[in-house]
Amino acid sequence: MHPLISELHQDHVNLGRLLELLQRELDRLRSGESPDYFLLIDVIDYIESYPDQIHHPREDVIFRVYLSAHRDEAEDVKRLMAEHVSLVEESHQMRRAVEQVTQSAVSSRDALESQLAQFIARQWDHLNLEEGRIFRVLSESLTADDWKQIEANLPSAVDPIFGGAVQQRYQAIYDQIMIGS
Ligand SMILES: [Fe+2]
Ligand SMILES: [Fe+2]
Repeated sequence: MHPLISELHQDHVNLGRLLELLQRELDRLRSGESPDYFLLIDVIDYIESYPDQIHHPREDVIFRVYLSAHRDEAEDVKRLMAEHVSLVEESHQMRRAVEQVTQSAVSSRDALESQLAQFIARQWDHLNLEEGRIFRVLSESLTADDWKQIEANLPSAVDPIFGGAVQQRYQAIYDQIMIGS
């Protein structure tokens, strides 16, 4: 496996752990308890900052090179690229929905519950298509020259939770993940 695919796979493992935190808060909502709204906002903030801004653009560089030379899975790769755009908007909508509930007593918890459930499901769908099939296709199809081209165009940034040092902004999430592991 190319080291870059390994890095992206690790990003998925990390994101999966955060989606499990979101799921736990969703379960709380469903059982009538109050979720930890601060934790919800922090997780969404992380998704907006790293997966949406760094992880998906890195994948897009790979996908573009794949599409320029290999077409077998073009439909699904294009779908993933389109989702990279729509997922960003969904993250913003999710943040707004949580903020509205915290700021106004009249906001519907039912609406938040269904939006959060959809958000988690879409994140998993996207990740599972990449993990379940497309990453294997990329590993099998891309040549050494393709990878050179990819590496020359790759945005890089340090993951603010899993990149070695936890940014203070995300310490509460990190602590929750450590408690659960
Ligand atoms: Fe992706
Ligand atoms: Fe991904």
